[in-house]
Amino acid sequence: MSSLPETVGVYGGGRMGAGIAHAFLVAGTAVTVVENDQAAADAARDRVTASLQRAEERGKLGGPLAGHLEQLLVTTDAGELAGAGLVVEAVPEDPALKVRVLAAVEAAAPEAVLATNTSSLSIDGIAAGLASPERFLGLHFFNRCRPATWSRSWSAPGPTPTWSPPPRAGSRPWARPRSR
Ligand SMILES: NC(=O)c1ccc[n+]([C@@H]2O[C@H](COP(=O)([O-])OP(=O)(O)OC[C@H]3O[C@@H](n4cnc5c(N)ncnc54)[C@H](O)[C@@H]3O)[C@@H](O)[C@H]2O)c1
Repeated sequence: MSSLPETVGVYGGGRMGAGIAHAFLVAGTAVTVVENDQAAADAARDRVTASLQRAEERGKLGGPLAGHLEQLLVTTDAGELAGAGLVVEAVPEDPALKVRVLAAVEAAAPEAVLATNTSSLSIDGIAAGLASPERFLGLHFFNRCRPATWSRSWSAPGPTPTWSPPPRAGSRPWARPRSR
């Protein structure tokens, strides 16, 4: 299994999306965050920056802050996800919205593994709305995922990622998979 994709997309840079972006930046990938409008994009950038700054203050960044920020693109253009190897959606918990943004990702990033960060919606239900459910899976991140790892993946038919999960400082490897 190889390392992480070079670029990870995060659709929605709110509380969870900013934490997910942080986790992948610290793991060494470039991260593209897509937001709804420019004000939300600015807020998302501020959120990720503040999160990285807090990690730096705690000595948990593992590299210069500026270097991590150089790897972060925050945009309102889903087309910027082209070339991403993995895109995680973290928009609000609305199934129609999630299908809509994932459909935009399917078009923008035809090679990417698609993931939802839903905490309560049916993965199969979301998959049913997609054109390519075979590359769709669910990823659960520990809440307050500033120092996050992803904890569980599951999928509808589901792809087999060719990359491994991100390491984290003071590392906890993959948590034990829950039973189905
Ligand atoms: N442990 C976990 O994995 C965990 C924990 C909490 C929440 N969640 C899930 O994470 C998801 C996000 O939750 P949150 O608390 O971060 O929400 P949030 O409201 O903080 O963030 C959502 C973000 O999505 C953006 N957004 C909304 N519509 C958009 C669109 N059309 N295009 C692009 N961006 C858009 C918003 O501007 C906002 O920044 C939800 O599905 C929630 O259930 C998972």
